[in-house]
Amino acid sequence: MKILVLHGANLNMLGRREPEIYGSYSLDQINEYLAQDALTWGADLTFCQSNHEGILIDAIHAAFQVQHGILINPAAFTHTSVAIRDAIAAVNIPTVEVHLSNVYKREEFRHHSFIAPVAIGQISGFGVDSYRLGLRALVNHLQAIGK
Ligand code: DQA
Repeated sequence: MKILVLHGANLNMLGRREPEIYGSYSLDQINEYLAQDALTWGADLTFCQSNHEGILIDAIHAAFQVQHGILINPAAFTHTSVAIRDAIAAVNIPTVEVHLSNVYKREEFRHHSFIAPVAIGQISGFGVDSYRLGLRALVNHLQAIGK
């Protein structure tokens, strides 16, 4: 099964960026964890990080009829992007939303997600484990629907 892993704005700075909130893992280390898990679970991952909304939208469009699932941390675009939400709806690919921090414990502007209504589910607050749990849940879902 093929899964696109998308990371939004500023996540290239992980490890150096507000480590008390986002932890000390770099994006490469997170991707490495996911790649290891994917090997065990029989998933084939493609990774993409961008600070540009349009590039993420292009990556979602390119996934149409190519990828079986999307694991996305939309980062700040979570709270702003109708366009990313619409792209996910357009390709109709099962999507899991993840956040390193517990966005519901933070500023109110982080409490709303434009992505959640088009996702199967959301995992928030477990650091790198949010990604790992999200990938596990997505793999289970895809297996359940015969992918
Ligand atoms: C984040 C939470 C967002 O509110 C924030 O803008 C991010 C990262 C997280 O993983 O906790 O950049 O998505």
